[in-house]
Amino acid sequence: MVATSTLPRARGLPLVGSVAHYLRDQLGFLEQTSRLGDVVTMRFIRQNAYLVNAPALIEQVLVKQPSGFVKDVFLRELKRVLGEGLLTSEGDFWKRQRRLIQPAFHRDRIAGYAKIMVDHTARRVATWRDGDVLDLHHEMMVLTADIVTHALFGSDPGDTAEVAWCVEKLMERFADPLYLLVPAIDRLPLPANRRMKEVAARLDKIVRGFIAKRRALGAEGPDDDLLAMLLAAQDEDGGRMTDQQVRDELLVLFLAGHETTALALSWTFHLLGSSPAVRTDLADELEQVLAGREPSLDDLPKLVVCERIIQESLRLYPPAWALGREAKEPIVIGDVTFEKGAWLWLVPWTLHRDPRWFPDPLAFRPERWADGLAKRLPKGAYLPFGAGPRVCIGNQFAMMESVLLLATIAQRFELEAVAGQRVIPEPSITLRFKHGLRMRARRRIPLA
Ligand code: HEM
Repeated sequence: MVATSTLPRARGLPLVGSVAHYLRDQLGFLEQTSRLGDVVTMRFIRQNAYLVNAPALIEQVLVKQPSGFVKDVFLRELKRVLGEGLLTSEGDFWKRQRRLIQPAFHRDRIAGYAKIMVDHTARRVATWRDGDVLDLHHEMMVLTADIVTHALFGSDPGDTAEVAWCVEKLMERFADPLYLLVPAIDRLPLPANRRMKEVAARLDKIVRGFIAKRRALGAEGPDDDLLAMLLAAQDEDGGRMTDQQVRDELLVLFLAGHETTALALSWTFHLLGSSPAVRTDLADELEQVLAGREPSLDDLPKLVVCERIIQESLRLYPPAWALGREAKEPIVIGDVTFEKGAWLWLVPWTLHRDPRWFPDPLAFRPERWADGLAKRLPKGAYLPFGAGPRVCIGNQFAMMESVLLLATIAQRFELEAVAGQRVIPEPSITLRFKHGLRMRARRRIPLA
């Protein structure tokens, strides 16, 4: 058995530990730290955190012993803004809700969403003109918000500028690692805290709008989508979910269901912008498989280049770039005994750039996913959607959406990098763009 006191330690200073190093450059600090060993101790003032780098240990945390942990302080802070939804809840309550919501993400069910995805994309892209410089991340946010609300709640998100403002402010706040390292800071009467209250209130209004619109439809409304299911849902004792619970679940599904996918697509177009050879492979596939018609569900198994591009983009820029867990009690993982309250950080950003699993890790090479790489990798080495019981409920939805949107957009436009723009990742809850992502749209040959 190994005591945590004998583990390699991240760079730090007396008293504050690694706070200053982490605040200066979160991703760089974690990359350096990950090179020190399979489990590395980081201290943030009095809190111990451990960066876990070995796939087998990660598998143990997420898949084999998940009940030994709760989600970390980040998610608990997020709960104060979003409420008790699937992403943020714990224990038996989470289990019941997951069982309830899971059928909406069944393979047969999401098959029905393919047409919604393609139709919305074709409509949005029809507003682009040759030569336009687009705020591409914003375009993807609007598009994926439309898709998730239509597919899951049979509605439209209403004022998308309002939604975008809320998400922007939420992510700005969580991009400041001080909130992670000094949790009590959110109790202080600071402008940033007042703004979070405003964000919570505005998000509440948006989501209650979905419910009100549906209730107004009465018997006329759809009775088989996720929203109908949630409204009708009864727990095992026969008690209904309260309005507040329905609201919390909707809010989490709405945010988790569009923000990450928008980022996955944005990072994908950013990578493609500087990879002419991959763009050629993509164009060839689209020509061969689709020959100018819209993609559909039946095309998915044939759009292998599209799928590999998304897998590779999720490797290099995983939207969920870090997962955190906190030990409920002392727990043994591998041969290390972690103390109660220890933070374990599982970081796809560093894991996906580890040359042990991904040779030439910084290169964007979608073809590395040919020949079943996903199956050959050690379990726990590639985690864009997490793993175990808390794995992303929307992972198939997201993969289907990403492939269909990529195909639909790339058939019509090539997106070029804009000269002089520095694209820098900004780690918040998700991996965002520090200065946005502008790209120039170049029209391809018109569709048949
Ligand atoms: C590329 C897109 C996406 C990525 C990268 C992603 C990533 C993730 C990850 C890593 C987790 C696990 C977090 C953890 O273990 O701490 C997660 C959970 C979750 N995701 Fe996604 N996600 C994506 C799309 C979606 C979509 C489309 C939906 C819904 C429509 C969704 C809904 C959720 C929910 C509800 C959870 C919590 C599940 C639970 O704990 O039971 N996600 N996601």
